[in-house]
Amino acid sequence: MAGRMGFMPNNEEEMVVTPWTVSGKIDYSRLVAEFGTQPITEELLKRIEKHAGEMHLQLRRGIFFSHRDLDWILDMYESGLKFYLYTGRGPSGPVHIGHMVPWIFTKYLQDKFDAKLYFQMTDDEKFLVNPDFELKDSTGFAYDNALDVVATGFDPKKTKIIMDVKDSGLLYKLALQIAKKVTFSTVKATFGFNESSNIGIIFFPAIQAAPAFLESALTGVNVPCLIPAAIDQDPYWRVTRDVAPKLGYFKPAQIHSKFLPGLGKGGKMSASLPETCIFTVDTPEVAEQKLWNAFTGGKPTVSEQRRSGGDPFICPIYYYEYYLFEEDDEKLKEISIRCRSGELLCGEHKLALAEKVKKFLKEHQKKREKAKDILNDLLFDNP
Ligand code: TRP
Repeated sequence: MAGRMGFMPNNEEEMVVTPWTVSGKIDYSRLVAEFGTQPITEELLKRIEKHAGEMHLQLRRGIFFSHRDLDWILDMYESGLKFYLYTGRGPSGPVHIGHMVPWIFTKYLQDKFDAKLYFQMTDDEKFLVNPDFELKDSTGFAYDNALDVVATGFDPKKTKIIMDVKDSGLLYKLALQIAKKVTFSTVKATFGFNESSNIGIIFFPAIQAAPAFLESALTGVNVPCLIPAAIDQDPYWRVTRDVAPKLGYFKPAQIHSKFLPGLGKGGKMSASLPETCIFTVDTPEVAEQKLWNAFTGGKPTVSEQRRSGGDPFICPIYYYEYYLFEEDDEKLKEISIRCRSGELLCGEHKLALAEKVKKFLKEHQKKREKAKDILNDLLFDNP
């Protein structure tokens, strides 16, 4: 706080989590408290497991850790009213594997709950917030990124990708109704807009809110909506939930994920620092090199590490296993024990992880090629 109030210079450690900036050391319990969300309880986990038949890795390991109205969504589901899913992507560059974490979870929800999905590509948002972007830049990334979305494996029969600029006609009537119920003072307080914010971005929250009511608007009956997304998107949902009852819609429920730490020191990751993240289009060799150069929780020398062990809890290599690449809990535990005891050295672990990452990339890139043939089926038809 002090940094923002001007008493202290901004330092790397200060936590900033907004839809456009995530930096510093992230304290997730503080986010739950500050954003006013609920932690996911054991009881809720059990209820999901009961319906899904299995508990997804990202639930077991607390990667999805917070929610709003998840209990209500399950009540509705149990009483026979199915929900639809809504998630999205801001196309500001190529997709990296951290972006895919919530998508992989969304696919699990789609499969297990037989849910329809709206996936929003906000080429408008990224054009508005990036001073250097032409519209064709973010729209180009939207189509490119959509291939990664399709490659994630969503059911083409139950998934629609919304391209904001192309599909403006689909969203605009809803966005107008939403915008009329949201004051400048609300978005100013929620997003930190000020006198120099462009008026496009001030209106934009209505566009991101619209898909949360879209299924109800299109079908004429109220359908519950569940939004899986990283927690930085929460400000949008606060505004969306405020207007819902004013328009006669259900408030959308959310389930929030943590961020995959980057490969830099302190888990730093940024698309502007390409060496700190693995893009889905990286060649296996490039990915291996990035992993090889990654920061770890290891000691400066081999003998020191053999003596006192490494620290997996500050190590991006371990986090990659934890979030994505080691699905077996027992094996994961073994990795952490071997790291702590000094038996597993960083170089060896990096090479082992690189094998898994390379395999993933090869498979994903094949699916991404195939996605080109079916992308059209997932887009809305425009006259
Ligand atoms: N604003 C999001 C981003 O920059 C994109 C987005 C739109 C989104 N709708 C969403 C993300 C719904 C999650 C859920 O990435």
